[in-house]
Amino acid sequence: MTSVSESDTTGLGEIQRDAARVNVDDKAMINARADVNQLLPLKYRWAWDKYLAACNNHWMPTEVAMQADIALWKSRDGLTEDERLTLKRNLGFFATAESLVANNIVLAVYRHLTNPECRQYLLRQAFEEAVHTHTFQYICESLGLDEGELFNMYREIPSITEKDAWALRYTQNLEDPDFATGTPEADQAFLRDLVAFYVVFEGMWFYTGFAQILSLGRRNKMVGIAEQYQYILRDESIHLNFGIDVINQIKIENPHLWTEEFQAEVRTMLAEACELEVAYGRETMPRGILGLNAELCEQYMHVITNRRAEQIGLAPLFPEAENPFPWMSEMMDLKKEKNFFETRVIEYQTGGGLDWD
Ligand SMILES: [Fe+2]
Ligand SMILES: [Fe+2]
Repeated sequence: MTSVSESDTTGLGEIQRDAARVNVDDKAMINARADVNQLLPLKYRWAWDKYLAACNNHWMPTEVAMQADIALWKSRDGLTEDERLTLKRNLGFFATAESLVANNIVLAVYRHLTNPECRQYLLRQAFEEAVHTHTFQYICESLGLDEGELFNMYREIPSITEKDAWALRYTQNLEDPDFATGTPEADQAFLRDLVAFYVVFEGMWFYTGFAQILSLGRRNKMVGIAEQYQYILRDESIHLNFGIDVINQIKIENPHLWTEEFQAEVRTMLAEACELEVAYGRETMPRGILGLNAELCEQYMHVITNRRAEQIGLAPLFPEAENPFPWMSEMMDLKKEKNFFETRVIEYQTGGGLDWD
């Protein structure tokens, strides 16, 4: 017996008064038959755990002091012209990227992911993307940047436009009200969108940007922004890992979707995405800055691309690649990251819960 009518994957259809109670085995990532309004019984503990971890990482950009950054930005020789260019184009990518990711979650992914614990995480992730967009508003206001310039870079700086246009191709038919999963073609279209946004956008394209800002921070420049990027990186690590888990779980439940041809297609997507990111590296660092240049970022992107391929069960695209930024992997290692942020995490854990004893 089905719990709800097959067509009701939104959770907003007629209440099925005579349906059986939810059986955990009826829960599924896509095309589920179980009522999407019932969180319990849980099927995917990893999704719930990520929701809890994300809540424990709560932060707001306005908690980070910006005085040092403002002083440095306004001083005539605090930053080189190259560093200013890198910083502005870096911020220009993120300023709208966070909104693109949020819109894809809310308007495309949420509709088609038919599991309540995954939706619970998506609601949290959507809020975090709002916090990230807020971060760029706050940076823009603090430094007195030209907001029109910053928020139009995704239209005006070609390498940013190319990246965003590439990803949007994959979300465009999914937000069509007539699009529905349930056929192999449609389910693969949904998987492509998950690859484009979770694996590529959040998992690859944010990392040149993180490396640039954290590299400045390591040299004691723009330390407020660097701290905010560390919080964003911590959030994004969970977004990425959630997306990887979602993709792998859909593969397990729907092995017929993960064909040889489809795997080849995903590899091509990763290769294209890597090339787009290399071009972005060149446009943000035409002459490089101290300790960082486009060539090193290209090598780094090869390492990241290999890692993402491996995480979804594909062979590395650049088997020779070696990590030029070992300090970045330290910051990405979740355990070390937790140590790194320990004071803050503990502060929120104790500050956030009520004690009735
Ligand atoms: Fe984000
Ligand atoms: Fe994200």
